[in-house]
Amino acid sequence: MRRRALLLVCLLALPAALWAAVEITLPNAPDSLKFAVIGDSGSGAGRQYQLAAQFAAAYKLYPFSFVLMLGDNIYGRDTAKDFSKKFELPYKFILDAGVPFHAALGNHDEPATQINYKPFNMDGKRYYSFRKGDVEFFALDSTYMSTEQVRWVEQALSESKAPWKIAYMHHPTYSSGKRHGAEVGLRAFIEPLFIKYGVSVVLAGHEHFYERLKPQNGIAYFTSGAAGKLRSGNIRRGPFFEAGFDTDLSFMLFEQIDDDLHFQVISRLAATVDHGVVKRRVLPEPDRRD
Ligand SMILES: [Fe+2]
Repeated sequence: MRRRALLLVCLLALPAALWAAVEITLPNAPDSLKFAVIGDSGSGAGRQYQLAAQFAAAYKLYPFSFVLMLGDNIYGRDTAKDFSKKFELPYKFILDAGVPFHAALGNHDEPATQINYKPFNMDGKRYYSFRKGDVEFFALDSTYMSTEQVRWVEQALSESKAPWKIAYMHHPTYSSGKRHGAEVGLRAFIEPLFIKYGVSVVLAGHEHFYERLKPQNGIAYFTSGAAGKLRSGNIRRGPFFEAGFDTDLSFMLFEQIDDDLHFQVISRLAATVDHGVVKRRVLPEPDRRD
C-alpha cells in the first residue's frame, strides 16, 4: 500500500512538461534486437522516477527486450528498502512487463549484495557475458580490474563467435568530464583487448551526463551516467568529444539490424538529444603469408 502511495506521489510531482510525448527515431523494425541502457540510476530521487516515467513511455512505443545497467545501480546502502526505492519502484512498469536487467557494478555498489540480487541477472558474478542474437555483451567490473578479470576478458572475447561484441562497465576509458575524466590506467589494460578481438562498442557510466566520444581505434565509446544523477555543465568539449548532453537526465535506446547499431538518447523531458548509427567493426583478415 505504501509503495503504491509513493508511486502516486512521484507521478503527481511530475512537471507538466514531462508529459511531452517521446518520439522514437529508431527504425523500430519488427525482428531487430532492441535494448536500453541506464547508468548511475540508483539515487532514489524524484528525478530518477521522472526519467523512469519517460523510460516506461519509450518502452510502450519501442518494446526493448532487455536493459543494461552501467553501475552505481544503488547509491548508499543496499538494504531491501534501498532496492525497492532505487530500483523496483521506479522501474516497476518495465519489471512488470517481464523485461530483464543485466547490471555491471559501479564504485558505489556493494558487490556481494548486488551480484546475488536476482533482478540484476548477474548470477553471482562480478563480470560475465551473455549473448542475444548477433550480439555478445561483456559486463565488466571496472572498479576492481583484477588480473583474473583481464585474463577472463581475453578468453571470453577470443572465444566469442558473435558478429557484434559490446562491452559495458562503469568507468569510462575516454571522457570529457571535468569531474572525473578518462580512466587512463584502466584503458591501458583493457583497450588492447577490445581492439584485438573486434569489440565494436564500449558503454560506460560514472560521469553524470551523456557523451558520445569520437571513435577511438575504430571503437564507438558512449558514456551514459545520468539516469538518476546529473552533474550539470560538466562536459569540457575537448579532443575526444563528439556529442553530449549535460543539462538533464537521460537514457539510451539501441537497435541492432545486421551491421548497423542505431542509437537514440532521450532526456527527462522527452527530448531526443542525440541519435545516429554505429557500424559493426570488422577485423581485417589475418595475414596468411607467415
Ligand atoms: Fe560512479
